[in-house]
Parts: sequence; structure tokens; C-alpha cells
Amino acid sequence: MKPLRTAILGCGKIARKHAAVLASLKEIEFTGFCDQVLENALSFRDSFGPGEVFTDHEQMFRELNLDLVYICLPPFAHTNEVELACKHGVHFLIEKPIALSMDLANQMASHVRTSGVKCQVGVMYRHGEAVKWLKEYMHNSLTTGAGFMSARYSCNSLHRDWWRDRNKSGGQLVEQVIHLLDMTRFWLGEPCLVYSIQRNLFHTRVEDYTGEDTSATTICFENGGIAVIAATNGAIPNRWDYDWQVVLPEITAEFKDANHAVVHNTRPDSGSTLTVASEKDLLLAQAVDLVSAIREDRDPLVPIEEGVRSLNLALSAAFSAQQGVPIHLEPPG
Ligand SMILES: NC(=O)c1ccc[n+]([C@@H]2O[C@H](COP(=O)([O-])OP(=O)(O)OC[C@H]3O[C@@H](n4cnc5c(N)ncnc54)[C@H](O)[C@@H]3O)[C@@H](O)[C@H]2O)c1
Repeated sequence: MKPLRTAILGCGKIARKHAAVLASLKEIEFTGFCDQVLENALSFRDSFGPGEVFTDHEQMFRELNLDLVYICLPPFAHTNEVELACKHGVHFLIEKPIALSMDLANQMASHVRTSGVKCQVGVMYRHGEAVKWLKEYMHNSLTTGAGFMSARYSCNSLHRDWWRDRNKSGGQLVEQVIHLLDMTRFWLGEPCLVYSIQRNLFHTRVEDYTGEDTSATTICFENGGIAVIAATNGAIPNRWDYDWQVVLPEITAEFKDANHAVVHNTRPDSGSTLTVASEKDLLLAQAVDLVSAIREDRDPLVPIEEGVRSLNLALSAAFSAQQGVPIHLEPPG
């Protein structure tokens, strides 16, 4: 079978990790590298080439007969690249958050639906072994949804200039903590209410830091469950700490990350625990799943609709914080 003619759009930090993973797959042949900064695209070709370089994605879609594109643009830079990928029949992975407006996100989903291309959204925690273990347990025990999830995300970095600018990143919750918002939907189902408090407490003297650096978010779900997420970018420098706990009837799972969890049996007569631990490469797992989905003509593990719904939750939380009121979410259409 011929390798997939593959391009990278947005040759930055996360794209380099994806490209290194893709380079290890025999199904992938790099064909194009596109970045608005020519040097970034050239440096990817130096590392992962051969392939043509572009500074304009429209030209790349026109000139290359692609099978697959990895869209690794910053949140504010999404425009018509999904529309063009769909028009040219190019499958794609798109990093989270997939957009900064629901209008654009819904348009993307509509293009994917009508074109039939395969789309994987880059929320890679869903590929973790501990995450998969608990999902299978829920499936086998006919547990429809967890009752409670609590989560923490903690770091301390100035990140990229676009990251600090709320208009370009959406803020810490939308850009970063969306991974955990996505996990709440994964365990509890669809949300119906969100209330978020967001403040800039630690970076008031950083002139261009307009996003929040601390937040507390409470979410209610259609199944009656509740989730709480605490996040800060004012904690320990050079550390990205996160964890979460999922509480089900008779089971509580403490996740250190997507590959590691201690699962407690909470029946009064039990007290037993089970440990799930894996070193699975999550970016590799999502790439392998996407390639298989293309070959087998099936949906990838995280199709575009999941990216749309988790974005809706994140943007609703940001709106709640801005307005100072809880926001009701409509059931997905
Ligand atoms: N899944 C994860 O864990 C994870 C981790 C980091 C970043 N991300 C996401 O990946 C995306 C990119 O983040 P990053 O840290 O790699 O950013 P980055 O700033 O390092 O890279 C972005 C690249 O896109 C280029 N670019 C910007 N606008 C462009 C345009 N219109 N056309 C072509 N190129 C353009 C920039 O020049 C830059 O090289 C963000 O949405 C971020 O949230 C995901």
C-alpha cells in the first residue's frame, strides 16, 4: 500500500513532536511543510524532509496532492484550512482548541461531514491506557456515566506571546485546560451548566498577559453528575502538573495522567486497589489510530464533533467568567 502523502501546517513546538512520531511510521511520506515563517518550514524540511516548503496553505493545498495534513496552528490562526482540506479530500489531525469561535468550529464539522474525510482531534489523553481501562470497565459494568470528577492543572510559564493574549489563545482554560474539560465530557457525558471564575492574579505586571492565570470551574451534566476543575499558571515554574479523580458507584479512579491510575474498589467490604501503569506514547497512539481509520474507512477515536463539543464547553466557561453568571448549555444537535 502506498504511503500517505503528508504535510505539516504550522511548524512550531507541538508540530515538531508530531513530525518526529510520524517520521517513525512507514505509512507516512512527508510531502510538504507550511508555516507563515519560511525559516520554520525550512527547518522542518531539514529535520524531516524531503518535502516542499510553503508560507501559504492555500498554495500548498492547490499544488500538492495530499492524503493527510497535521494542522498545528495556534488557536487564533484557524481560517479556511479545514474547508480546503475537505475540498481536496485530505484527511487531517487538528490540534486543540480547534478554533476560537463556535461558528468556525461548526463550519469545520459540517465540511468534514459532507466531504467524508477522517479527522482526529488532538486531545490525546483519550488514548491513554488508564483512560481506556476505566472506559472498558464502565462499558462492561454497564455504568453509563461517572458521578463526579475533580481535576487540577498547574504550571507557571509565560508561554508564547500569542498564548498570553486572550484574543489569540482564548486563555488558559480554553487553550490548555481544555484537555481536562474534554475528560469531564468523556467520563460524565454532555454538560448542561457551567460556572467559571477566572482571574489574573500573578501576572498583572506582564503587560501583554490578558488571559486568566487562575480559574475555578464547576460543571453540571445531563446525567446529574458534577465536575470541578482548578487551574493556575501561577504555581511552580518549569512544571506542568495535572491529575484528576473520577468517582463512580463503588469505584474511584485516581489518575496521575492518562496512562497511570490507581483504581479503588469503594464497596464497604472491599478496600482493594488495582494499579494501571503504561508508558504508551500518546501522540504515536493517536497517529496510528488516524492512519488505521483512513485505511479502514472508519471514524478515528476522537472525531471532529468531540472537538466541537469540548470547545463549546470551554468557550461557555470563558463566557461564564466574563459575565459572572452560570451558563446553560444546549444539548448537542
Ligand atoms: N496536544 C497538546 O498537548 C498540545 C501541546 C502544545 C500545543 N498544542 C496546541 O497546538 C497548537 C500550536 O501550539 P504550539 O505550541 O506548537 O505553537 P507554536 O507557536 O510553537 O507554533 C505555531 C506555528 O504556527 C505558525 N503559524 C501561525 N499562523 C500561521 C498561519 N496562518 N499559517 C501558517 N503557519 C502559521 C507559527 O509561525 C508557528 O511556527 C495550539 O493550538 C496549541 O494549543 C497542543
